[in-house]
Amino acid sequence: MMNVNETYQKFADYYDAYAGAFDKDLAFYTSLCRPDEKILEVGCGTGRVLQRFLNDGFQITGVDISDEMLAVAKQKLASFCHSGNLVILHHNFFEHPLPEVYDRVLVTWFTFNYILETPENFLKNLVASMDSQAMLAMDVFYPRTFTNPNVNDVWTTRQLTYHGRVITVQDKRTVSGDMEERIQIYRENGKETHIHTRRKYYPPHILKQLLECAGLMEIMFSEQYESNAFKPTLEEHEIVEHFVVNAKKP
Ligand SMILES: C[S@@+](CC[C@H](N)C(=O)[O-])C[C@H]1O[C@@H](n2cnc3c(N)ncnc32)[C@H](O)[C@@H]1O
Repeated sequence: MMNVNETYQKFADYYDAYAGAFDKDLAFYTSLCRPDEKILEVGCGTGRVLQRFLNDGFQITGVDISDEMLAVAKQKLASFCHSGNLVILHHNFFEHPLPEVYDRVLVTWFTFNYILETPENFLKNLVASMDSQAMLAMDVFYPRTFTNPNVNDVWTTRQLTYHGRVITVQDKRTVSGDMEERIQIYRENGKETHIHTRRKYYPPHILKQLLECAGLMEIMFSEQYESNAFKPTLEEHEIVEHFVVNAKKP
């Protein structure tokens, strides 16, 4: 089984073709932030969210643990790196906090689901990188769909077209308890790439405990990308595919 780094080492070449067009969360993230705040995106990948912030005139820092994903982001967003509006860092919150503190920390598009073990250590260092009164927003994958026997462990095939490339991707997800294993097979010009991904599903009540233990308060949930839909509790049956959690550092 691949670890996260090995997964994204291979995925970097296909990520934008597979997921780069997703934009339902972008207006939500920018609505949480003001241009005068120090904003950090954790798990920035190839820069899908960074790009929106930069196009809207924000300054932002993006961190990730995958050099290959960051290389794509740096290449796409080179002009913003040169202008000083974008800082891109390889950083692992399992090891230590960042040297600076931030007002808004965004853990975007299911990055937290890659935290399989010791989420406490990851969150401790993340919270140490937040200024007092700083806000954290995390988007967490929690799909009830894949516990459905009709789609669990079932192969699907799609064709992707991206910048003149034609790629076929076959994938299946297998859910066991709170762990998901996804196998993707990409085929392009006779080349075949297999990518294995492991993700963990965190229900809202467990996430709340983890965030409280990390020292955060005012923990609020929403099952939509909608800044006025936050509420103090979220029942599992209300979640379709994901939820967003917001929390504040005292
Ligand atoms: C699904 S991608 C999301 C990329 C981007 N945020 C987006 O919205 O398109 C998850 C990203 O999280 C990164 N990641 C996984 N574990 C991480 C960790 N412990 N710290 C930082 N980034 C991590 C992966 O390398 C990958 O780039």
